Amino acid sequence: MLLKDRVLFLTGGSSGIGLECARMYAKEGAHVAIVSNCQPELESIVQELGNSHHIGLHCDVSSEVQVKQAISSTISCFGRIDGIHNNAGIVTPSAMLHETTTDEWHRLMDVNLKSIYLTTKYGLESLRKTEGCILNTSSLVGHIGQEMHAAYTATKGGISALTKSMALDYAKYRIRVNAVCPAWVRTPAVQSWVKEQDNKESAEAYISKLHPLGYCPDGDVIADACVFLLSDKARFITGCTLPVSGGAELGYRR
Ligand SMILES: NC(=O)c1ccc[n+]([C@@H]2O[C@H](COP(=O)([O-])OP(=O)(O)OC[C@H]3O[C@@H](n4cnc5c(N)ncnc54)[C@H](O)[C@@H]3O)[C@@H](O)[C@H]2O)c1
Repeated sequence: MLLKDRVLFLTGGSSGIGLECARMYAKEGAHVAIVSNCQPELESIVQELGNSHHIGLHCDVSSEVQVKQAISSTISCFGRIDGIHNNAGIVTPSAMLHETTTDEWHRLMDVNLKSIYLTTKYGLESLRKTEGCILNTSSLVGHIGQEMHAAYTATKGGISALTKSMALDYAKYRIRVNAVCPAWVRTPAVQSWVKEQDNKESAEAYISKLHPLGYCPDGDVIADACVFLLSDKARFITGCTLPVSGGAELGYRR
């Protein structure tokens, strides 16, 4: 068990990649505080994992009051925090920058980026005591860009930059800070996107072939990388923005 008795604060742990992380962290022996803005999904995952070692916290990660409360509830329940995984995120709109509304811009920045500032602001004291770690779910598109998703890619580029700067700032406390950068992952949002396309077969082929390894993975491949980065196996790794992408970022292809 790579995460035995670690107390992990996982945002966006009720769906998609985060849900697979919650399952994997529990399997690896962690106590997981699962944070999400979706109450029915939270109840479902806590019921699945069992409420003797895990808790569900209903919280909007863009709200300072709510994040402060969620961190405090986790410490009250488990006594400490050993790791924070900032995974909650939104992807809409799919639009060019000038067609993105001001509200959409602010919402993306608040949910995807400000949330990391907030969990760090309120969680750092506990992480300093445990010499714990922070893991961020960034995205490959934060490094290579994506058509029709400029504002979203800016949040992910921001997360990767934050990861490196935070790693430098917190190394003195022996707190490691890393990120995973998936390409496409077969989450409910991606599955709905495929269904909405006029030509579903070509959409399926697109999200598979985009990865040189030849398929679009499920969230478990990301969760495995996250377990590694949160575990002592990665004890000398910090500031790493790890592509978990089947090679999607590699060069020219025919
Ligand atoms: N699916 C992909 O292909 C992919 C690729 C690269 C990066 N990512 C990133 O992975 C992360 C998870 O994405 P996913 O595809 O699993 O999405 P998802 O929609 O399945 O899950 C998102 C989770 O975040 C939670 N959430 C959203 N807004 C919130 C808020 N304001 N407060 C609290 N919780 C909130 C949701 O309740 C849910 O649990 C995101 O950061 C996303 O940008 C996803």
